[in-house]
Parts: sequence; C-alpha cells; structure tokens
Amino acid sequence: MYTKDDERRLYELAKSLLNSAHENGQETIDQLKEVINYADWRYYVQSDPVLADQEYDKLFKQLRHLEDKFPGLKTVDSPTQRVASGLSERFPTVSHLVPMLSLDNTYNAEDLTDWDRKCREFPGTENIEYCVEPKYDGASVSLIYENGVLVRGATRGDGVMGEDVTINVRQIRTIPLSANLTKAGVQQAEIRGEIVIHKEVFEAYNKQRAADGLAPLANPRNAASGTLRILDPAEVRKRGLSTVLYHISDYTLVDGNEKPHALDTHYGSLKWLYDMGFPTPAKEMKVFRHIDDVIKYCDEFEARRDDLPFEVDGLVIKVNNIAMQEQMGMTSHHPRWAVAYKFKARQATSKLRRVEYQVGRTGAITPVAKIDPVPIGGVTVSSVSLFNEDVVREKDLRIGDTVLVERAGDVIPYIVKPLAELRDGTEEEINFPKECPVCNSALEKQPEEAAWRCININCPVQVAERMIHYVHKDAMDIRNLGEANIQKFFEKGILTDIPSIYELKTRWDDVRALGGFGDKSITNMEQAIEQSKGQPLNRLIFGLGIRFVGETTAKTLANAVTSLKDFYDWDIEKLSTLEDVGPKVATSVADFFARTENRQMIDKLEAEGVNILNHHKGQAAAAGALTGKTFLFTGTLSQLKRSDAEAMAEAKGGTILSGVSAKLNYLVVGEDAGSKLEKAKKLGTVSILTEQEFIDMVNADV
Ligand code: IVH
Repeated sequence: MYTKDDERRLYELAKSLLNSAHENGQETIDQLKEVINYADWRYYVQSDPVLADQEYDKLFKQLRHLEDKFPGLKTVDSPTQRVASGLSERFPTVSHLVPMLSLDNTYNAEDLTDWDRKCREFPGTENIEYCVEPKYDGASVSLIYENGVLVRGATRGDGVMGEDVTINVRQIRTIPLSANLTKAGVQQAEIRGEIVIHKEVFEAYNKQRAADGLAPLANPRNAASGTLRILDPAEVRKRGLSTVLYHISDYTLVDGNEKPHALDTHYGSLKWLYDMGFPTPAKEMKVFRHIDDVIKYCDEFEARRDDLPFEVDGLVIKVNNIAMQEQMGMTSHHPRWAVAYKFKARQATSKLRRVEYQVGRTGAITPVAKIDPVPIGGVTVSSVSLFNEDVVREKDLRIGDTVLVERAGDVIPYIVKPLAELRDGTEEEINFPKECPVCNSALEKQPEEAAWRCININCPVQVAERMIHYVHKDAMDIRNLGEANIQKFFEKGILTDIPSIYELKTRWDDVRALGGFGDKSITNMEQAIEQSKGQPLNRLIFGLGIRFVGETTAKTLANAVTSLKDFYDWDIEKLSTLEDVGPKVATSVADFFARTENRQMIDKLEAEGVNILNHHKGQAAAAGALTGKTFLFTGTLSQLKRSDAEAMAEAKGGTILSGVSAKLNYLVVGEDAGSKLEKAKKLGTVSILTEQEFIDMVNADV
C-alpha cells in the first residue's frame, strides 16, 4: 500500500508539519490528512507506530484547528470525522445488498475430508485450491464504499436486515474512511468482516471496569458486538476496536473499466484490499491444493492460537477461485464454497466450594470463587474472579453449584453460568460481607457503583497495593523493589506508605536482617529507587493511583501544568476543560489534590528529590545554547542521519523548520543540496552551515 518512498516522504512531511505552523488551508489540510491516515495505518494495521503519541495528537489538533478555520474544507473522510460528538438515539434498520450468511461448521479431519469430497463433485474442480484464514471471534459487519468513500457500516442483524451503525464504525481506526477503490476500477463495493478487540485491549478494559466497580464484559466477542451497538460514539472510540475484513460480497465497476484481475480469486481480492490499506488477513492466509495439507495446517494453527493478538475460534476454508465459488452457490444458511473448522472449546465444569473476598488498591472488594482445580486450555484453574456482587446475583450462583468455567486464551477465566439443573438442594446462598475482610471497617457502596468498598484509606491492603502500583513498570518503574518485596517489607513495618520507599536507604540493616537480601540486591534496589526520582511527571501522576486516572489521562494531566502542585488550584471545571477528562475523572482528581494527606505525601516526595515538575510544558522545549534558533537540513548528510541531526538541534533548544523562510536562521547543507540552498542564498539572511560546522556548533556548548 505504501512504498518505501511513500513512507519516507510521509515521515518527512509529518516532521515538517510538526515543526511549523502551516496555515495555508487546502494544501496543509490535505497533507495532514495524508500523514494522519498513514500514521493510523502504521499504528493500527501494522502495529508499528511511526509517530510518538504526542506528535500524533499535535498533528490531529492542527488538522482540527484548520478545519474549524476553513469549515468548507472539512470532508467526511477526514480523520477528524471519526470523532463523533453527541449521542445517537437509535440505529435505523437497513437491508443488506446480499444476505449475510453464516458458515457451516466442521470439527475434525473427517468432516473436512467430507466437505472436500462434496466440493469436488462439482464439474471443473480438478484443480481446486483452498484458501485458509483465521476465523475471528467478534461481530460481523458490512461496509459499503461508494466512489471510494465509506458510506455505510451495518451489523449482521438477522442476515437480511441489519442495524446501520455507520456512526460507530467510523470510530474504528483500522477501517479506512476512504480508499483508492475508484482508481482501481471499482465504483461501489460491499466488504464484509469482523469487528474484533485486541486481547490486550480487552483485558485492560476489563481491569479498568473492575477498578471502577463495573461488571466485566464476558469475552472479546461480546465486547466487540456490544460496543458496536452502544449509543455513545465517543465511548466506542475509547474501546479501541479493530477490524479484519475477509470478503468482498458485492461490487460494481466504474463505467468502461475492466474487472481487476485480483478479483478472480479470494486470496487475490484480500491482498488487493490489503494493498489499498484495508485490514485483511493477507499475512495470515495460506493456499493449499489438497485437503490433507489443509488439515495439517489446521492442527498446527490450533496449537498456536493463543499467540494471536485477537481471539480466534477456528479457521475458515474457502474455495479460492471466485468463478468456482459462484458455480457452487449457497444454501439458505451458508455458502457451499466455505466452511469453518472450529477449535476445541475451552470450557470445563467444576464445583464452586467457597467465595473469598479480596481488597484492591482503591478499596473495591472483589469476590473470588474457589473451585475444584480443573484444567482448561493447558492451565489448571482453581480461582475465578466473580468481579462484584451484581455478577454473583445476576448469575444466581450458590456455594456447592456445578459451574461452567471458560478460559479463552489469555483472557482471565470466568464463570459462564451455574448448571442449575444439577442442584440437589444443599447449595447455599453467597453472603456478601458487610465489613472489610482485612481491616473490619464497614463497607460502603455508592448507588451508581457495583462494587462495595472499604473506605478506610489506611486499610493495610490498600496501602500495600498503592505502593505496588507506584513501583509498576508503567508507573515509576522501580523494578528491583517489586511486589513480593513490598509485601515483605510492609508486613515488617519497613515500608509504610509511598514516601517510605525513599526512606528505605536508612533501613537496609532491617532488610538484611530479614535474610535473603545480599549486597547486590540491595544495591540494585537502591539504584532503582534513586533513578525513579527523575521519572517524568506523567509517570508520577499515574503512580499516585488516583482513581480513574490511567496512563493516558496521566499524560494529559502532566502536560497541563508545570508542577504537580499546580493542581492544588484546579477545580473540577478547569480540569474538565482538558481533553478526555470528563466529570467523573475531574471530580476524582480534584478530590485527590484537595486531601491534606495527599498533599503531605507530595511534599514528602518532593523533599526526597522526586521530580514533581513538567519540563516539557508548552513550547518551552529543551533549553540550551540553540534556544530560539531555527534549523533546516537539506541534501544528504554523510555523518548523521537526518532525524538524529534534528534531534541534536532540538536537544539544545533549537527548532526545526520545514522550509526556507525569513524565520530560518541556519540551513545545514549535505551533498546534492538543491533549491533550498538557492533560496536561502537569495534571502541572504540565512547562515549556511556544512554538516561538520553544525556538529561543531552543537558540541561547542556542552
Ligand atoms: S466468511 C459468505 N471468513 O464467522 C461468507 N467469516 O460462523 C461468510 N467469521 O458470520 C463469512 N472470521 O461473522 C468468514 N475469515 C472469516 C471469518 C468469518 C469470522 C465469522 C462471520 C460469520 C461467522 C460464521
């Protein structure tokens, strides 16, 4: 889809857009759109981001700003239009161009051999080829593109009529809002696929829900299909859905155009779409001539199903040749030219023996079912989270029940349901505690929350959990301290709260006395603790464990201030002006900074030398000898990579410009410098440097 040259050009363009405020309407808007689409593709389709988050956000804001300034230049396929505002009332029903059928299932080699035999009964199938691809476990979707622009996204519904969820589909970043279909000769196309959710995104989302006291979503499939139909597009966007497109179900050609050759085979058409930027399983597809090879591949694939980023519940085997597919046709339920091979289920039954209650960092009480150990998908499961009281009540679980447990891949195990028909009357109701199992404080529950909470912020488990969160690799990253050590030190009173981590230096003798800690491990801990003092502010904010403040919000907050203490003066209203900070988060943040004990903690951290400042706020980038100076590099540099040279200038406070103008101070010229050098000479105000002179200049001030 993007050639190496395209990629280089777009990267350079991104950098130049980042380094100067272009205002010239159409051209800049087009450039920004192109660059953002490319960055989205790298991020979402290739999983290999090309821009830092902040850079991406900056470009995005620039585009939004220009579109606000020139509303006439805003188009429906602009990346900014993925972000819908407001809520939709309901989804209109629409009919599918071609019915959305299901697939026939096979479960073993014999079923597949049978299916192969049936296929070969059709004439002209001597050289039949089978294309094999993953069967994604999500929600099916139909996308219609007209003149290269996405005009409709619909759910499967009953197969004939679905719901028009275009507004939500547009939030999904892997789905191109426009593509070069027309150029390729196709006027209108209906493309089908599966809306899926990355296992990691799903788990993180459920963790967050649990922390917020909400019931978890049962599995990635439910999460994807539920999300597609929620009425709040902003929420849809937040949930980070992805897509895999696996079928062109219908298309018309641009007048006078011939059918693209690629559309003769299934493999060709998905590759063709992929090359145009569509997320298809192009890299996962395999073509075979013999069913025995298909069977072998199915076995191999099943063995590595857990390694895939998405939940996959089988493989789909499709006749590769489209003319052959048309000849074979379909039943009212499924096409004859395709079949699903389903992997073995990963469910098992066990007995629910008792329920234990765990206290989390924010005081939320989580019920955990203790079941008779049972192997599921290669792991022995004996503890299953029940998440909160509502889940227990909704499922009507009782002690002594036989329960159906599912563990899908890396997803944490959960109880699907009790097998009520197996009850014998001895089962007992589950009684939720009224007091914290750790500190015995009375538990509280807010009307809008599902979780009971221990509101004693000095509850020992919460204190320990807060420290564990603080040292986490995504927070202050004090790896050598770690969860197990924190627990140990906390039990012995060596650690008491977050600031006490920095007082450990006076307690090493006590640590040694515990046994098992040598000089090396103590030095490592000491170093890691020391290093954490210089962590950027966003990590500290995340590490403080403010409710509802995840890593992204922590970055937003950090970027908004020059010192953590600035938040002492921020009220809910001011906090709510920040991007992605809603009333819930704003209230939680304001509460946190209003509390005396938290302010005392921040004072202690500051006194210990922990960085509470944001050095990168606004334009005040790195200050140095080159502050206020502008640079532009042209031609081929011989010693430095251009990006490194730019970074060197920026590290000293310099700014990189994208073009020669009166604002430019230095033009650094490499080999074959062209028009930029000419222009700079003509201007007469630009100092022209060789690469070596530039290096000397940077090194002059160390
Ligand atoms: S082909 C007429 N390919 O599985 C073509 N379906 O159990 C029918 N699915 O409704 C679909 N991955 O939602 C096809 N690679 C894949 C698939 C796939 C997942 C879903 C699809 C379908 C369901 C049938």
